[in-house]
Amino acid sequence: MKGVILAGGVGSRLAPLTRITNKHLLPLYDRPMVTYAVEALVDAGIGELMLVTGGMHAGEFFRLLGNGHEYGIDRLFYAYQENQGGVAEALGLAERYVGDDGCCVLLADNVFETPLRPLVERFAAQEKGALIVLSRIEEDEHLRHLGVAEFDGDDRIVRIAEKPAEPPSRLGVTGLYFFDAQVWEVLPTLAPSGRGELEITDVINWYAGRGELEAEVVDGYWGDAGESIEAYYAVNDFVRARHG
Ligand code: DAU
Repeated sequence: MKGVILAGGVGSRLAPLTRITNKHLLPLYDRPMVTYAVEALVDAGIGELMLVTGGMHAGEFFRLLGNGHEYGIDRLFYAYQENQGGVAEALGLAERYVGDDGCCVLLADNVFETPLRPLVERFAAQEKGALIVLSRIEEDEHLRHLGVAEFDGDDRIVRIAEKPAEPPSRLGVTGLYFFDAQVWEVLPTLAPSGRGELEITDVINWYAGRGELEAEVVDGYWGDAGESIEAYYAVNDFVRARHG
């Protein structure tokens, strides 16, 4: 299975910090944000990774990660996203790298308390389709900033609602996704959303519509450090307490 870390975008919710650097290079406690995503995938047994980034500060990722060996990555590839066209656009840049393999996609601003290896193993055993990772969230206001799963009477996901005014459940979609090679057929069919981006939620909903979407709810802390400045500091606090 190939790993893909998405670290493009403008990071507008953390401006003006993100005017002078890429969001994923901002510190989380004692090191740059992106290194947590790298470490999480390497610990999960993924040795081959592509990092997708863009913007003015892309070169800094080379300075930080180099060839990846210091971080336990066997082979590290980079792709440059010319536009800020959304998570699904960024993923599209990994098509030739992933090929017919399955892929594990992680947004570089996500931090998980739980080790990701069991999820990687679960998807490796899954015949086809996609696997998404959910986190239980109590506050409606938080869910309004996320993708939220909507279930039918048999506890199957009908669809994901992206940033819903009325959250259909308490299960938010984290930024960890697993896709089979069908994803490369889905991406060219997407149309930009209201925020002018190609949405990963539309990709997930394609799988849900075909009955090929699996989901796992994770235990422990999960945070998206790019969600807001408050979320950024909440993730900082979590990471600091874990290492302190
Ligand atoms: O973190 C989980 C949430 O991530 C999910 O609950 C949502 O369903 C999903 O749409 C996504 O929402 P965000 O609004 O948080 O996505 P954001 O625009 O912050 O992008 C997330 C990451 O994707 C970002 O840290 C870097 C990468 N990205 C984003 C864009 C827009 C790119 O690589 N290129 C891009 O053009």
